Amino acid sequence: MTTAAPTTPALVAHLVEFPAYKRLPIEIASAEGCELILRDGRRILDLYGGHCVNTLGAGDAQLGAVLQKQWQELSFATNLLDHAPRARFMEAFARNLPEGSWQVFCSNSGAEANENALKLALKATGRKRVISFHGAFHGRTAAANAVTDGKAWGTLPFEVSRLPWNSVTGIDDGVAAVIIEPIQSLAGVVDPPPGFLGALRVACDAAGAALIFDEVQTGNGRLGAPWAAQFYGVTPDLFSTAKGAGGGIPIGLTVVSDEWAARVPGSIMGSTFGGGPLALAAAAHVAERIAAPGFLHNVREGSAVLRGCARLGPVRRVRGEGLLLGLELEEGASAVALRDALLGQGILTGTCDDPRVLRLCPPLTLTPAQAQRLPDALAALPPLS
Ligand SMILES: Cc1ncc(COP(=O)(O)O)c(C=O)c1O
Repeated sequence: MTTAAPTTPALVAHLVEFPAYKRLPIEIASAEGCELILRDGRRILDLYGGHCVNTLGAGDAQLGAVLQKQWQELSFATNLLDHAPRARFMEAFARNLPEGSWQVFCSNSGAEANENALKLALKATGRKRVISFHGAFHGRTAAANAVTDGKAWGTLPFEVSRLPWNSVTGIDDGVAAVIIEPIQSLAGVVDPPPGFLGALRVACDAAGAALIFDEVQTGNGRLGAPWAAQFYGVTPDLFSTAKGAGGGIPIGLTVVSDEWAARVPGSIMGSTFGGGPLALAAAAHVAERIAAPGFLHNVREGSAVLRGCARLGPVRRVRGEGLLLGLELEEGASAVALRDALLGQGILTGTCDDPRVLRLCPPLTLTPAQAQRLPDALAALPPLS
């Protein structure tokens, strides 16, 4: 006698994406340099650069060749092994650094880079408090989120005091670290008032606290200098970066002065993927391109053209530096409405937490002629309803 196989009810899986992002109403098919190509064939000028990621523009041929070669030679290796892309990265990355002796730890994202910087400062000082600023954004992991303004979702992993922008009060010997974006991006491209970063340096020195610059957006040449540290002439004890450092390949970097690094055991850090050959080959190439003659000059030229948007259409003022700019709009104007109108004209820009500021963070390879399309479009734009 044969017995029938037991039947199990068919399980039907259903999957939708977690609704973290509200998508724009365009369908992208591909991208080339500073242009996005839509499914319907339209080309859009990309003044948003994938949130500061596309340092070299999309599909850069040289970076593509580096990645292909690296993949074929050594696609991945444990951090227990040394490899050529690591040496190449160390050499290239050092070329752009602010004066001093530095150590670097490689992870995979901006939040991780900040998490590691904060961990190091807390461990080195044995203190329990960190200072950050109103409007700050430092990422979405526990420590990075704790120092981010207005996005708390649970118990904080350490004490946080939030200071008003431009304040240096309360930095005392209970403070492990002060963490700051040299220009606050998400808050609305908010510039540091003159002397503010220098005053923080003095206050941190007096308190024995670590000064941490979050250079996830301001770094990798975006301000027209390699790092905000050089742009503003203020050197932090640690700085973090990510986004543009890999030109589209995920990477997080925590850069720490020798002096601060010596205060903790190396074993407090670790990462499976961080420092992998593919990411380091990409980051080495990006660092080499930033150091190449003319690269930062191009950033400053593009910036000067985009600054010409001041007083065109609803724009009243331009904030920020280099190719991290915010167009501050007139009273009553909406950045969302302007973004949508510009998208209709074939230009992608970004919004931020300030409803009256439109954000620009294009690839650093934007040409002055491409940049000119924004002032031209603003000059021709009918009044926003
Ligand atoms: C200034 C700043 N810090 C940190 C982060 C977090 O980076 P990631 O999203 O790579 O974790 C961001 C991301 O937008 C950022 O803008």
